Amino acid sequence: MQKEKFYVTTPIYYGNGLPHVGHFYSSIIANTLYKYAKISGKKARFTTGIDENSQKAVIKAEEQGVPIMEYLDTMANEHKKVWDFFNLDYTDFIRTTEKRHHTLVQEVLTTCHKRGDIYEGEYEGMYCVGCEAFKKDDDLVILDTATNKTLPLDVKGVPEGGGIGQYVRVCPDHLKEPDKIKEKNYFFKLSKYQTWMQEFYEANPEFVVPKFRFNEVIAFVERGLEDFSISRETNTFGIPLPFDPSQVTYVWFDALFNYYTSCKYSPHPQPLSQGARGVEIDGKMFYDESDVWPADVHIVGKDIIRFHAIYWPAMLASYFGLGEEREGVLHYVETDREKLPATILTWGYFTVDGQKMSKSLGNVIEPVSYATEYSKELLTLYMLSAIPIGNDGDYDRKSAIETYNAKLANNLGNLVNRVVVLSLKLPSPHPSPLPLGEGIDGILMDNRAIIDWEKINNWLWDVYYTEVDTFVSHYDLKWALDISFYTLDKINKYTDENEPWKLIKTDEEKTREVLYTIAEWLRQVGMCLYPFFPEKMSEMFHKLGLTDYETRLENGELHTLRSETPVFEIKEKGEPLFMRIEVEK
Ligand code: MSP
Repeated sequence: MQKEKFYVTTPIYYGNGLPHVGHFYSSIIANTLYKYAKISGKKARFTTGIDENSQKAVIKAEEQGVPIMEYLDTMANEHKKVWDFFNLDYTDFIRTTEKRHHTLVQEVLTTCHKRGDIYEGEYEGMYCVGCEAFKKDDDLVILDTATNKTLPLDVKGVPEGGGIGQYVRVCPDHLKEPDKIKEKNYFFKLSKYQTWMQEFYEANPEFVVPKFRFNEVIAFVERGLEDFSISRETNTFGIPLPFDPSQVTYVWFDALFNYYTSCKYSPHPQPLSQGARGVEIDGKMFYDESDVWPADVHIVGKDIIRFHAIYWPAMLASYFGLGEEREGVLHYVETDREKLPATILTWGYFTVDGQKMSKSLGNVIEPVSYATEYSKELLTLYMLSAIPIGNDGDYDRKSAIETYNAKLANNLGNLVNRVVVLSLKLPSPHPSPLPLGEGIDGILMDNRAIIDWEKINNWLWDVYYTEVDTFVSHYDLKWALDISFYTLDKINKYTDENEPWKLIKTDEEKTREVLYTIAEWLRQVGMCLYPFFPEKMSEMFHKLGLTDYETRLENGELHTLRSETPVFEIKEKGEPLFMRIEVEK
């Protein structure tokens, strides 16, 4: 039987800076969704990488006096080091300077050009290198250079046209004046896709999540789609247009197709595609894994939503030849869905302790040093549980530590510690049906006939699993975490009610039952939390004396493991699972 597939992507980050916590956020969401799909037995794929064909990178390399490729190689390694520090389990790390990507983009450009969707024209306008995008008047704000404050464009008292003396028109994100440009460009016929796009949105109301961001996109499209420029004459670094090599395609036409290159030219054949035939590009083998296309979810920040929700489906429609033309108008047809990404999951911007994250304020959270100082799990837990995906959010450092202490160190960590310490005080069960090592204490065997099994079972199967699976499939990671910690609260309550630390002095059998119950709850919650905190949950399974859990989960055995009857062979106390962190005053 064909396995269900799941394909998730992060944006490819610009290679001219190092990843900060804003980038970490999309990578950790992607990793968690990927792991969940993988342990559930799906054929899963997770692509991340860097966006290299940009003027910004060229400028940076020149500033540093190093050849561009040397600069990009260094930056790609630095990015990988960050993700490897967090053990992110990406299937593919794509770089847009790779030959496989050039091959694909050129093939796409040729196809779209032949279809008549790319034409030559002249562009006159403003271009912001920081955004790698052309700007319209109303995209800009006025900067008062005397105070260095920005003002909206329509503010009173600012001379008509701005750009004079004290006042200059700048890009609101980069506070720099866009370059004035007049050059030959090639354009993509986005306007041709107006009706098609509206019908596509209509038929797929969950295309952009959350809904309020989708509504913004819909409203934008309703105002009318305009063709956009896809090439630059003055840039020399990038992918040349196959039909006019004097021009290189600029950022978006190039960057977005990374998601498809990664499947079409995959560095590794996935287990299911045995027999996949490879092609050799630049001395490396790549395999056609395009059967995982379309992406199930692209994770993107709100600033790049329009590119993903508008340009991207239209480019794909042009490349794959989607839609049906009737009386000169292109219409959406249901089968188009098979080639288009299912969901664009959008998040907002973070502030840190209530302030905009900026180098000058010195409050940029750099994920590796922050996680080294505190804990990787603290960062993941707070990002995924304090900020519902979709909204703008604040990273409140104090509350991040408090959340970690309450949920991981106290709630989960203490429970594991209790069960381990008390189990080790129990003598080995006799007679034992198991081939036990000599003198091993702390073995908890199944006692379901007499413990509160029914209660657990009802909660686990009727509520917990269904809710976690549903939340994750709706990309609601906050709620998946919340219900897991709620379940842990229930176990803590059960533990306090049964007081195994007292019971052990009087009733060994009953203690065994209670500890087994707690260990079983922990095993079950641990499997759901594994995609969020894989290293710590593997450590927990090990502490509970469960062997091979990491391997079996990675092999997609979540559902089998859920219904198994485990034996907990607890052997040693070891270090606490989560150390408490003191809150700074
Ligand atoms: N290279 C493009 C993406 C191309 S995808 C085909 C790009 N790169 S980026 O490095 O500038 O940004 C990557 C993502 O990080 C963006 O989605 C952006 O929204 C996000 N973030 C950058 N700063 C952020 C915050 N302060 N907070 C949250 N996320 C923000 O755009």
